[in-house]
Amino acid sequence: MRILAIETSCDETAAAIIENGTKVLASTVATSIDMHRKTGGIIPENAAREQIVSIIPVITETLAKSMLYWDQVDALAVTFGPGLIGSLLVGVETAKTLSLLWKKPIVPANHLVAHIYANWIDTKEQYSVISDQYSVSHTLNTDHRSPSFPAIALVVSGGHTDLVCMESHQKITWIGGTRDDAAGEAFDKTARLLGLPYPGGPSISKAAEIFFIKTQNTKHKTLNLFPRPMIDSEDLDMSFSGLKTAVSREINSLDPTSLKLRRGELSAQVQEAIVDVLISKSISAIKKYHPRSFLLAGGVAANKRLKEKFQEELAANFLSVSFHVPNPILCTDNAVFIGSRAYFDYNPIPWNKIDVNPELTISS
Ligand code: KG4
Ligand code: ZN
Repeated sequence: MRILAIETSCDETAAAIIENGTKVLASTVATSIDMHRKTGGIIPENAAREQIVSIIPVITETLAKSMLYWDQVDALAVTFGPGLIGSLLVGVETAKTLSLLWKKPIVPANHLVAHIYANWIDTKEQYSVISDQYSVSHTLNTDHRSPSFPAIALVVSGGHTDLVCMESHQKITWIGGTRDDAAGEAFDKTARLLGLPYPGGPSISKAAEIFFIKTQNTKHKTLNLFPRPMIDSEDLDMSFSGLKTAVSREINSLDPTSLKLRRGELSAQVQEAIVDVLISKSISAIKKYHPRSFLLAGGVAANKRLKEKFQEELAANFLSVSFHVPNPILCTDNAVFIGSRAYFDYNPIPWNKIDVNPELTISS
């Protein structure tokens, strides 16, 4: 089955054609990130306007790259939430129109659940297809295996941080998450305080990496300047809003020259605090639910330090749990994982019954 998937929940306009949930026939991602860099974050109306400009060219380009005609596609899939209302509307209304015109079934997808499905894509075989729109090179997963159920997934994106237990593609239960800011939001907000460009995650990660190279990796163990709120609580809840306050307090105690000198170290401190909380809560979830697989997903899953620490921890203490993390290209927003999710939970509904839901949660 071939699914043409559309994703427009935030500042990326994306389309992809996915075969049987795992094979990428074509993928296109247009982003308005440069515009948001200038404003230091996303202004929803600007993002929605850019979606309108990009949506038709992105779908046209995706079909052209796949070498398929529209009538060789079996179904459509589209993100209906959560996200920015204006951005979501562009994708949903476009997909509904195509469904009506082409007489194809349409599957609405939950963006947060769909993020997890980047772990079902075998990027090793398809690197040239998915990397088409990107100039950066990435290391590939060398041993792709599909995740097994039951699985625990940690979804860490710009607006959400959720732990879920997946007993099957249909039975997904929320088991914990942040009570306030998301992990990606914590990266973005603290980066801004540190004077680093948007989006904050990659900026902090890069600054920290340079710091580690300069200090020859000897500093990992002493990066405990910032608090790890709720790390010892019995539940699987997290909290990241205090981090911003702590970083702000530290920065306010510095003059501009000292801040410049300490930017790399402070970036590493922020990253370590966020990573420690995510790992600690995920390990508690693994101990509680005994999954066969552990899956990382969402933009923050592209973070090298997070993956490194997870790999170390699981290899040392949970060898029977298979660890899955998507290729970095598929961690941030794209339509590939929307098409994959729609295949594995194939539930078409009439086009005129589909509505955007900006407040959708991972368990709704
Ligand atoms: O999943 P995503 O692309 O969009 C949402 O659905 O929100 O996630 C975007 C988030 C941003 O907060 C960004 O700073 C973060 O993912 N991010 C990273 C990295 N790359 C992106 N955070 C830490 N390290 C990275 N390498
Ligand atoms: Zn996302």
